[in-house]
Amino acid sequence: MTQRGWTVQQILRVTTEFLRDKGIESPRLCSEVLLSYQLKKSRVELYLEFDQPLRSSEIAGYRSLIKRRLKREPLQYITGHQEFWSLGFLVSPAVLIPRAETEILVEEAIKLKEGNLLGDSGQPKVLDLGTGSGAIAISLAKEIEGAAIWASDISFEALTVARDNAKHHNLNSRIEFCQGDLWQPFSSSPIAFDIIISNPPYIPSKAFQTLPPEVRDYEPRVALDGRENGMHFIERIIEESGIYLKSGGWLLIEMDPDQTEKALYLIDSTQSFGYKERLMDYRKKYRLIKAQKKNG
Ligand SMILES: C[S@@+](CC[C@H](N)C(=O)[O-])C[C@H]1O[C@@H](n2cnc3c(N)ncnc32)[C@H](O)[C@@H]1O
Repeated sequence: MTQRGWTVQQILRVTTEFLRDKGIESPRLCSEVLLSYQLKKSRVELYLEFDQPLRSSEIAGYRSLIKRRLKREPLQYITGHQEFWSLGFLVSPAVLIPRAETEILVEEAIKLKEGNLLGDSGQPKVLDLGTGSGAIAISLAKEIEGAAIWASDISFEALTVARDNAKHHNLNSRIEFCQGDLWQPFSSSPIAFDIIISNPPYIPSKAFQTLPPEVRDYEPRVALDGRENGMHFIERIIEESGIYLKSGGWLLIEMDPDQTEKALYLIDSTQSFGYKERLMDYRKKYRLIKAQKKNG
């Protein structure tokens, strides 16, 4: 690329072609997002300034962002931002980039509240186990008025990001952040939660190398690797959640479609749960299980 006389329109066209040739997904979107990030303008503003010539320092900055993307660094780590549940979240390589399918967990938790399925609890207690960026906990704090939320993670660095996100959304007083291995932060004085919600690591270790480079080389392995069959954390969550749920409380776990049948079997074998079902994601694949602890 020569650095003389480029307008916004021209550089977007050339970069889109370049990224397409290199096999980068959604090349036009990527070109626009990175240019708006470089110029500190919205994508709409880019369109309004299509004929605006760029300074050589802007072109050089843009070029280095494009180089990062060519090395398959996810767009969200470059810009430090991802949207989830129509809210803005800071993301860093310490946290999983929140995925659209995880919004179904949030949706289901809200349905429980709206359907009066949380008993007479005026202040439902919700635990987001493995909170990462805090996307689930923060979305639920916004949506379920009066809920008291706990958000835990084994990663100190992830919790730093989650706390920053809670502050950004003015919700830090509503969310209690705890660090530790799964149930450990709660084991000395169990809280009777109304909802335990989790998107745990669930990729089988042996499938790790087959993941796209954006995921395999950049997202934290601790957020993805569910060990053998990817079921390690799912099993531990199902086996012990009965201790931490109140009677009639709900368990919601995201997982791979192939893991849902085994998860339902495990739920039965605990004998703690009554109602159970698996639910599909937007692509019509079973993506989560929902189970209710028996009353009494
Ligand atoms: C798939 S990510 C989900 C992040 C976030 N909840 C979301 O949906 O975007 C799984 C999270 O579980 C955390 N984690 C992994 N092992 C854990 C453990 N033993 N105890 C608690 N959290 C753990 C990871 O650090 C990561 O943040």
